Amino acid sequence: MLESIPQIHSTAFPEGFIWGVATSAYQIEGAAAEDGRGASIWDTFCRLPGAIADGSNGDVACEHYRRWATDLELIASLGVNAYRFSVAWPRVQPLGEGAWNAKGMAFYDRLVDGLLERGIGAHLTLNHWDLPQALQDKGGWASRDTVHRFVEYACGVAQRLGDRVVSITTHNEPFVQSILGHESGIFAPGVRDRGVAMQAAHHLLLSHGMAVQALRTLGIRSDLGIVLNLAPIQAASGAAEDRARAHLEDGRLVRWYMDPLFKAAYPEDVLAFLGQDAPRIEHGDMAIVATPIDFLGVNYYSRAVFSASGPQDPHDSGAEITDMGWEVYPEGLTELLVRLHRDYAIPALYVTENGAAFKDQLVNGRVHDTARMRYIANHIAAVGKALHQGVPLRGFMVWSLLDNFEWASGYAKRFGIVHVDYQTQRRTLKDSALWYQNFLSSQPDKSVAPDGLRAAA
Ligand code: FCB
Repeated sequence: MLESIPQIHSTAFPEGFIWGVATSAYQIEGAAAEDGRGASIWDTFCRLPGAIADGSNGDVACEHYRRWATDLELIASLGVNAYRFSVAWPRVQPLGEGAWNAKGMAFYDRLVDGLLERGIGAHLTLNHWDLPQALQDKGGWASRDTVHRFVEYACGVAQRLGDRVVSITTHNEPFVQSILGHESGIFAPGVRDRGVAMQAAHHLLLSHGMAVQALRTLGIRSDLGIVLNLAPIQAASGAAEDRARAHLEDGRLVRWYMDPLFKAAYPEDVLAFLGQDAPRIEHGDMAIVATPIDFLGVNYYSRAVFSASGPQDPHDSGAEITDMGWEVYPEGLTELLVRLHRDYAIPALYVTENGAAFKDQLVNGRVHDTARMRYIANHIAAVGKALHQGVPLRGFMVWSLLDNFEWASGYAKRFGIVHVDYQTQRRTLKDSALWYQNFLSSQPDKSVAPDGLRAAA
């Protein structure tokens, strides 16, 4: 099937382009009770009967907390110049306020130093969903107090690590945290209330802007930004009702986050749709949300097609479908990036996640994951097309380095380009990883940061 892997011209990507792999703390670290880590909302949620497909949790995961040094060797072996990871808030500040946990902080300190030693840029995310349970007990993201707790946490982490990380992302996917966490309730903390969800969304955005201001005041020189999960939302037909529904869904997924971040206002059509479920906004909030940032990270997996009655089943499209049930639609990534660049004044963009789950088989030390290899190659080609249309793209990161705990889907869905045997914790490079490694070896000069990070590197 190799002939169906596109040849990507290395000239498509400029010198200094960022090539990475991504993970998040709860999905890989394990060591949930070690060295003073506090509980997060995902520890709690995983214990609810039926919440996780296979009844699993992140207690052990990939044992990355213990295996970080060999995992760094693995990352280095790929030839990437970037690693995107997240700090587990409850590991460094177990109750989400007050005392810091020195051992937890030391872990990330070692990790960042290890990346630097290997010439790999550290891209740190502050909140990849694992809010301290102690803060959830006081209302979580639905409570305005959590905004201030997050700003303190952001400052604490940045003061310790900010001299050595290329970028700091405040939040990963506020849509997922608010809507899946508080409206549909299929993710932690499992609340089902639209009004609460929209209040949580507002507080996530507000805390993002406040944290960016606070980090700038501290003199942190890392690039600062936020990561959104975005997709083109298309109408199933030209009928007015289908188009209206697609427009509303675009409002809820894309414009609800992009408009406040880049235009300091929520979209009117979505506010009208929400009615009394619209969030309470205090005077001055919107200007804070729109505090200028250095970059926007986009996580892209697929598109969505809506008719008036709801989402279309991607299986009806005849297209290839991943193990998550998501349609493979690389052209959507070009379309999305070009649209974002057209509609908003974004200084720089990264694709911070892109990848796919497929049913892999480890046979004689090999995983012939041709479908994943093709998926990644086609999406990199789609990024190249967006670059050629003038989108200020700075980098691309594969989700994920390792097979890991895929939230409510548990361990059955494997996104890694590196296979993990959960019995032995052995890591095996899949064919997709070998392809990526080979592709990266053809890329021009891969510096650690666009302008040479900065102080430390
Ligand atoms: C994204 C998450 C990431 C991973 C991928 C598959 O929504 O940010 O942690 O689960 O989906």
